[in-house]
Amino acid sequence: MIQLRKLTLKNATKEYCNWLNDKEVNRYLETRKATINSLKKFINDKNKKKDCLLFGIFHKEKHIGNVKLEPINYKEKTAELGILIGNKGYWNKGYGTKVMNLIINHAFNNLKLDKITLGVKANNKNAIKLYERVKFKTNTLRMELVRTSHKQRSAK
Ligand SMILES: CC(C)(COP(=O)(O)OP(=O)(O)OC[C@H]1O[C@@H](n2cnc3c(N)ncnc32)[C@H](O)[C@@H]1OP(=O)(O)O)[C@@H](O)C(=O)NCCC(=O)NCCS
Repeated sequence: MIQLRKLTLKNATKEYCNWLNDKEVNRYLETRKATINSLKKFINDKNKKKDCLLFGIFHKEKHIGNVKLEPINYKEKTAELGILIGNKGYWNKGYGTKVMNLIINHAFNNLKLDKITLGVKANNKNAIKLYERVKFKTNTLRMELVRTSHKQRSAK
């Protein structure tokens, strides 16, 4: 029922734009707006890169999201993963878990990678639960200082 297929330019649709322009969907993402042309450029650029595999997530032929391995370092056998179920009607139905299992199998069994890493915002609870469910472990800690909290502290 769920399939991963390489994205093509015909997948740059209005619906895909709407996902990225939706505040609930883009809340934890880097990309917060899109046009059909920007999506076409994105798909083209990613498909040209040797260290990137961008797949569309299809449910009964309907494009509902994307999953990406980038960068893939074939020498070190590592890759960074990103997932987006863009169509909110498909959240909380187990599809994220299914997609993670498919991409992990592809990375380990077909691409013969040894390690997959990913970055997630600390308050993206749904994503963290999903990653833990498929056995990701926290092994690094990134810290950040934002200007607003810096200002408050110096004003004391
Ligand atoms: C984060 C994200 C990928 C999760 O995808 P998802 O498809 O909703 O995840 P799942 O459905 O597999 O898991 C979510 C919940 O559904 C539950 N679930 C699993 N199978 C289910 C089923 N068959 N029926 C109903 N619920 C099910 C899970 O148990 C889980 O519940 P819990 O979190 O309370 O334990 C998705 O919300 C998303 O793309 N968000 C926007 C982009 C984003 O934040 N990406 C990650 C950036 S790091």
